[in-house]
Amino acid sequence: MSRQLARALPAAMPTLYRRVLRPALFARGRDPEVIHDEMLRLLGAAARSPALLRLIAATLGGGPDDPAAHRRVFGLDFPSPIGLAAGFDKNAVAVPALAALGFGFVEVGTVTRWPQEGSPRPRLFRLPADEALINRMGFNNQGAEAVAARLAHLPPLSVPLGISLGKSKSTPLDQAEADYLASLEALHPYGDYFAINVSSPNTPGLRTLQERDRLDALLAALITRLLALGAAEGRPTPRPLLVKVSPDLDDAGLADVVAVCLARGASGLIATNTTLARDGLTSAASEPGGLSGRPLHARAVAVVRHLRNLAGDALPIIGGGGIFTPDDAQRMLDAGATLLQVYTSFIYEGPDIARRLARGLVAR
Ligand SMILES: Cc1cc2nc3c(=O)[nH]c(=O)nc-3n(C[C@H](O)[C@H](O)[C@H](O)COP(=O)(O)O)c2cc1C
Repeated sequence: MSRQLARALPAAMPTLYRRVLRPALFARGRDPEVIHDEMLRLLGAAARSPALLRLIAATLGGGPDDPAAHRRVFGLDFPSPIGLAAGFDKNAVAVPALAALGFGFVEVGTVTRWPQEGSPRPRLFRLPADEALINRMGFNNQGAEAVAARLAHLPPLSVPLGISLGKSKSTPLDQAEADYLASLEALHPYGDYFAINVSSPNTPGLRTLQERDRLDALLAALITRLLALGAAEGRPTPRPLLVKVSPDLDDAGLADVVAVCLARGASGLIATNTTLARDGLTSAASEPGGLSGRPLHARAVAVVRHLRNLAGDALPIIGGGGIFTPDDAQRMLDAGATLLQVYTSFIYEGPDIARRLARGLVAR
């Protein structure tokens, strides 16, 4: 049975998802976040069963099985350049299943020092005509201690694990450093890289941490601590630290981020987070929050290109924002990204998106 499924499903999946599964999942009247939580529960259950993980890898994931897809970046080996962006698995409940789906790396979080509920619901909205999402989740997560306890029980992973760190809503902005440091301490043993999220539009004031002086102080503190934690673990090099940027920064703001990252020795950049802009939408989009998906793509590519021009080869960039097709992925690579991340196309295109994108890139 499983062998027959493994043969038939990969070819049928895109149509099956678009024609049958997606309409059922997107049925009117159901809060998209409830569907998200149900899918995550299923993936979490699968993550605990080696047999199911093998079935998922055989039918939906499994990666492109091609050394051409392999990347070595930040001293880490990525079996494929297509990763899952932060925000999908905020509490790291389904990482092995996400790896089985063919993602070449998984970024969990954003995790904050303290557990928090996030914004009132509803807070996640689909714009199907634009293949976009608007979210104002507000870093709903179980907090660094709980996520660390879960990660401590994970079996070894086949792909690098990134951990996105954010500021707790209850922590005043001028105490942000201590908040990020506490999360870093708790999670340090488990992350292959750490991403500093200073670009979510849904935590008041968070984006001001991208300003030159604030970012400089934050990075200085975090990198000093990473060096100490790495040395204490006997690591030859500290864990990589990346900064995730907003697509709403202007050129001067992007230049400030690059200058600080270079001066402080950050390992790379993630571009971009969601946008507050509403350009190019056909749907009426009155909900506040961050917009992701197709309408973000052109701006995200432009930001990656600008960052690459500013940073040269000194800061590898993980590019993301509206990557739906191998053409989109290639466009982002051509703009200067070294690795890629997706979130919204996972929702619109289905569970085999990582494999399709990776194979599409290799086929080029
Ligand atoms: C529902 C939702 C929640 C998100 N939560 C986070 C988050 O917690 N941390 C973060 O860095 N980015 C978060 N993001 C942003 C994504 O990681 C990504 O940067 C953005 O959606 C652009 O990529 P996409 O167009 O492929 O979705 C979230 C996005 C969505 C749609």
